[in-house]
Amino acid sequence: MNVLVIGSGGREHALCWKITQSKDLNKLYCAPGNGGISDVAECHDINATDVSGLIDFSRNMKIDLVVVGPENPLAAGIVDAFQVKGVPIFGPVARGAAIEASKIFSKELMKESSVPTAPFQVFDDYGKALGHLEARQVPFVIKADGLCAGKGAYVIKDMAEARSVLKELMVSKIYGDAGRKVVIEDFLPGIEASYLAFADGETILPMPASQDHKPLLDDDLGPNTGGMGAYTPIPFINDDLDREIRDTIMLRTIAAMRQRGIPYKGVLYGGLMFSGGKPYVIEFNARFGDPETQPIIFKMKGDLLPVLVACVEGKLNNIKELEWKDGVSVCVVLASGGYPENPDKGKAIRGLHRLAGRDDVMVFHAGTKKVNNQYITSGGRVLGVTAIGPTYENAIKKAYDAVAMIEFEGMFYRKDIGKKALMMR
Ligand SMILES: Nc1ncnc2c1ncn2[C@@H]1O[C@H](COP(=O)(O)OP(=O)(O)O)[C@@H](O)[C@H]1O
Ligand SMILES: [Mg+2]
Repeated sequence: MNVLVIGSGGREHALCWKITQSKDLNKLYCAPGNGGISDVAECHDINATDVSGLIDFSRNMKIDLVVVGPENPLAAGIVDAFQVKGVPIFGPVARGAAIEASKIFSKELMKESSVPTAPFQVFDDYGKALGHLEARQVPFVIKADGLCAGKGAYVIKDMAEARSVLKELMVSKIYGDAGRKVVIEDFLPGIEASYLAFADGETILPMPASQDHKPLLDDDLGPNTGGMGAYTPIPFINDDLDREIRDTIMLRTIAAMRQRGIPYKGVLYGGLMFSGGKPYVIEFNARFGDPETQPIIFKMKGDLLPVLVACVEGKLNNIKELEWKDGVSVCVVLASGGYPENPDKGKAIRGLHRLAGRDDVMVFHAGTKKVNNQYITSGGRVLGVTAIGPTYENAIKKAYDAVAMIEFEGMFYRKDIGKKALMMR
């Protein structure tokens, strides 16, 4: 098969790295890709949202499967457009991707199908939303309805902040149309986890649960980022809890979509909160997570490509179970100085050769470019140093030992990735 992966982050590098190991692969392409991806795939400089450019490319190169990484092209209907042209593509149609692109759609779907989630109210009128706020007690959460690149959800701890957030979203419109409507919901205290599953419109095959680390600094301090690290699995998610999540959250959501005439294919990503021991959905994403994909894919045994094809063809039932390597997989993100506001770029990355060829450590590239055989930084999140080992302690140490081999000017990272897992047991 000829395969095209769309995107340029660590998630896409992990997918490309895994797909190159497939027995079914003829040639792998990536658009636009990055420095690390260019080592395993032929990269073409086509933007992830340039749908007509990507369609032309796919037809010219006789692509048999397109795999979409990021949410923006999914929300814009890239899957629908490829389907019209008869090119097989992995990901949900726009009406399915709305589960991520509209928090209101997602919350209403959950409410109607009894998927556990925080109680909420929806507002499209600033005055009414403000009136509601004034009658509430903190803490609560205000969320813009639309896509805001992970910046549209605010956990509110005081009323002055609530008023200013609401005004920014609905009056100043700092996120444009995405904040025209808002959801205001109850705050759920607890432990967060990411639960990703392959979906073919009817059934699902779950991946092991993982945990992201959104805040920039150790102990979850500082501003939120795209994600500073992740690990899998999560110690307290046993078989019973896994089954509960699968049945009451994931399968119920796919069924609710189907009832609305939406065949949900691709990855369904449940952002969960375990509150009082029970799983609730904080949000859904319509794609692989970044950085969760890096440790998950590193832990996956067997061939990824037939699983992606089975999702597209609605034949996931033919695959009994996914197999995973034993132990723990941990990914530490190395970021550029100035991230997230104003990341430095163009810094030479040193030391990667010291980690080449290891089968228990893999460095997935995100914001890198390859210029004259030298990797240089080109974005905020630069590398995802990923290690697998028999225990949490072992995998964490291995990942940080590998981090110590790498350097670039201004490089920084969280020192506590995986620490929560050690405290959960
Ligand atoms: N109801 C809630 N209770 C507690 N924390 C929440 C709640 N909703 C969101 N959060 C926190 O805010 C973060 C971002 O919210 P989320 O709905 O995932 O929006 P997005 O990822 O689109 O920014 C979550 O990862 C979680 O830490
Ligand atoms: Mg989120």
